[in-house]
Amino acid sequence: MALFITFEGGEGTGKSLQAGALYRKLSQLAISALLTHEPGGTPFGQKIGRWLKWAQDIDISPLTELLLFNASRSQLVTEVIQPSLKNGKIVTCDRYADSTTAYQSYGRGLDLEMVRAINNAATQGLKSDLTVLLDMTAENGLARKSPGKQDRFEQENIAFHQRVREGYLKIAASDPERWLVIDAAQSKERIAQIIWQRVSQLLSSQGG
Ligand code: TMP
Repeated sequence: MALFITFEGGEGTGKSLQAGALYRKLSQLAISALLTHEPGGTPFGQKIGRWLKWAQDIDISPLTELLLFNASRSQLVTEVIQPSLKNGKIVTCDRYADSTTAYQSYGRGLDLEMVRAINNAATQGLKSDLTVLLDMTAENGLARKSPGKQDRFEQENIAFHQRVREGYLKIAASDPERWLVIDAAQSKERIAQIIWQRVSQLLSSQGG
């Protein structure tokens, strides 16, 4: 009953919370599941993720950023995601290739086709069965972040975060079968309910 479910959204939209809630729900129902995240999810990926989020005094170019996120992803797909799917697990992943399309193409301005081609190489063509987009305005999302040290992405200006949001909405509109777009301003309980409705449909259509 393998399924690959990814969570996407801008800063402060509550993806990690919902990815965790879905994973716990599946585990409670004794459904074999795995929760992972990007950037990271492997020891090597974690190192790359740290550089990408926290590098100081290094001017990481958008192209380098694109390649590093995909280096982390390639390792995660090979080491964790593919073997888990082969073992029949439901894999839930907090961010995946669509993050790169939204942030490095729509946000940073890299060519869309190039970004897609590199994502495709890193994932070996592995696409999610369902992608949940938690959508809210960039202003509201950023306002929900807890105060403290901001990483390289949180430090970007509001126009960058607005482009990321618009990018996500465009990507989702181009493939409505795969995407579930949810207004992230709703309560976390309501959002979890909407996600569960869709996931349980997918499970029963697979005979689970
Ligand atoms: P997070 O751990 O808070 O989700 O932070 C990861 C940051 O990295 C977030 O700001 C989005 C950004 N990011 C990209 O720009 N491209 C990517 O491909 C991924 C996975 C994340």
